[in-house]
Amino acid sequence: MKFCVISDLHYYDRSLGIIGEAFESMCQRESKVLQYSEEIFDKIIADVLETDITHVFFTGDFTANGETINHDKFAEKLEIFTSNGVEVFIIPGNHDLGKQYAFKYLGGEKTVEVQTIDKDNYLDRYRKYGYKQALSIDKNSLSYLCEFDDFYALFVDSASASKIDFPDKVVISGKILSETQDWMRQSINQYCIKDKPIVSLMHHGLLEHFPHQKELYSDFLVDDSDNLAETFVDFGIRLVLTGHHHANSIAREKINGVRITDVQCGSPLTSPLAYKVFEIHASQAKMETRYVSDIKGVANAELHNKAASILQRNIDYEIDKSMSSKGLDVLGDARFREFVVSAMNMYYSGKRLSNQEMNAVIKSFDTSSVSQELIYSLKLFSEQFSHSNNGLSLDISIK
Ligand SMILES: [Fe+2]
Repeated sequence: MKFCVISDLHYYDRSLGIIGEAFESMCQRESKVLQYSEEIFDKIIADVLETDITHVFFTGDFTANGETINHDKFAEKLEIFTSNGVEVFIIPGNHDLGKQYAFKYLGGEKTVEVQTIDKDNYLDRYRKYGYKQALSIDKNSLSYLCEFDDFYALFVDSASASKIDFPDKVVISGKILSETQDWMRQSINQYCIKDKPIVSLMHHGLLEHFPHQKELYSDFLVDDSDNLAETFVDFGIRLVLTGHHHANSIAREKINGVRITDVQCGSPLTSPLAYKVFEIHASQAKMETRYVSDIKGVANAELHNKAASILQRNIDYEIDKSMSSKGLDVLGDARFREFVVSAMNMYYSGKRLSNQEMNAVIKSFDTSSVSQELIYSLKLFSEQFSHSNNGLSLDISIK
């Protein structure tokens, strides 16, 4: 089966406003070209309909900030897929439900809060995108299990449980309730009885995509990720498709002698404006990355340059805010900072330094004040996955 995964689409209707400092800073916070979300989505839809892709999966954050109007417009666009025979399955992200930075932007710093949707409303409007076809639905979350010709798909809701804990706060982190884990185990035991792999899809990451991610960006991994990764392996899951950080990265770990792979799918609104196409057949998974180009009304170079400059500002901001606050003051070293910036750029674009390039960088820092532990971490970051993160071919059978 050939399917497309679109993560972190952050659909945004321009009637909510696209000018002013408040709008700009919201875009920058998540490194996205929000003002082009409609044209980008239209282009992805057109491209998908031209291919032999039969299913489209959304791994959360399909609306900018859960605004009712953006859910309405997004749902209208989904009809284009279904009316052309392409089936759609969705699972929410932290931006799709409940309390959010959901505003109309009136220019300058002026904003006015707009309506968002809750869990019941979510189910009402999206029932036909996965829940209706499900073999089993979790009563404690928005998770569900489906069967396709070539694999079982476990759509795991990592977003709504944290929202319930903090109903009046904007929540970025994710978790999977123990009741939901029990449901996962029971459902897999009851329904996944044929000799087919189980692929899981959820918004938050399961495996660390770079050393110290848990300390530096804990909200981007699901809570208790180490134990959960072991639980997923135990359930027979060998491939997890995630999103949330807007970066293109593949992490692999061997847990109790078994390999598990987390493919983190980038956002089509964040440079390099990517989405993924997978083909799973006979327990073999192949993945390729596609890039958005030639959207209506904007020159290609202008679109990609704009996205790259927003990402660059975001990386600089994150390094200042997050890394230096965690005591990594070596980032004051200009050369080292430059290296971390380029490593972050590679993380987003799905590239890796070769061993030769990495060794050259490490050698150049040998006599500097940079800690060897950090150098070692960055070396691991580079070597974690030996080939480009933009393509993949692996065996996902349960052995
Ligand atoms: Fe997210």
